[in-house]
Amino acid sequence: MNLYTLRDLSKRYSRGGEAVTIFEGLNMQIAQGDFIAIMGPSGSGKTTLLNMLGGIDRPSSGTIECQGERIDNLSEARLSKWRAAHVGFIFQFYNLMPTLNAAQNVELPLLLTKLSPKQRKEHIATALDIVGISDRAKHYPRQLSGGQQQRVAIARAIVSDPKVLLCDEPTGDLDRVSADSVLEMLQLLNSKLNKTIIMVTHDPAAAKYARRELRLDKGRFIEQESAQ
Ligand SMILES: Nc1ncnc2c1ncn2[C@@H]1O[C@H](COP(=O)(O)OP(=O)(O)OP(=O)(O)O)[C@@H](O)[C@H]1O
Ligand SMILES: [Mg+2]
Repeated sequence: MNLYTLRDLSKRYSRGGEAVTIFEGLNMQIAQGDFIAIMGPSGSGKTTLLNMLGGIDRPSSGTIECQGERIDNLSEARLSKWRAAHVGFIFQFYNLMPTLNAAQNVELPLLLTKLSPKQRKEHIATALDIVGISDRAKHYPRQLSGGQQQRVAIARAIVSDPKVLLCDEPTGDLDRVSADSVLEMLQLLNSKLNKTIIMVTHDPAAAKYARRELRLDKGRFIEQESAQ
């Protein structure tokens, strides 16, 4: 089943009064349950595209449908509700709050929901358990390794059970061993929990964990040879 349909998508910025086109006429379908790696040179628009898929940024023209619903033209209020229900973000530098412990960081997306404190606790415990870091629930980010911090960030991304995980260079700051363990985790979330994963990466070894590899270059997508 189709999850995302992008039609004739373009993004332009004005820089010093001059219009700069990042991409133009981009068409793509993303199936539910897919795991896609997006590669491409720096500045090719990978983060911009991910932000559009997550409803953080909007296209200059063209449409984005997710499960048959247009998200490119939703009001800010409806978009932030849509975001909370449908997508989890994972970033290169984890973006954890330094003053909150692991469990409190994971709780953040739940504060926007109607769940009771008891239900929130259960969700947090499940998410920490899935990423195998329950024993660090009370630790603060500075007390955790990079790999452990990224696991907490993954727990935060999945705690409200979104269908889609959008990952922007999730292993860009990790050594090979921690990177592989994070990538195995993403693969598991894809294969066992049926999360659709769209991952931007500069690392060809990371891209191999995906089901499909795409290259974004000069505003076009080029499908790479099948990863698996
Ligand atoms: N808010 C903005 N205003 C103007 N230009 C922007 C803005 N955001 C991004 N850009 C430009 O759009 C282009 C694409 O940026 P983007 O961050 O999507 O690239 P990227 O492929 O993620 O690069 P990297 O691999 O370095 O992360 C860049 O040239 C960037 O300078
Ligand atoms: Mg980027």
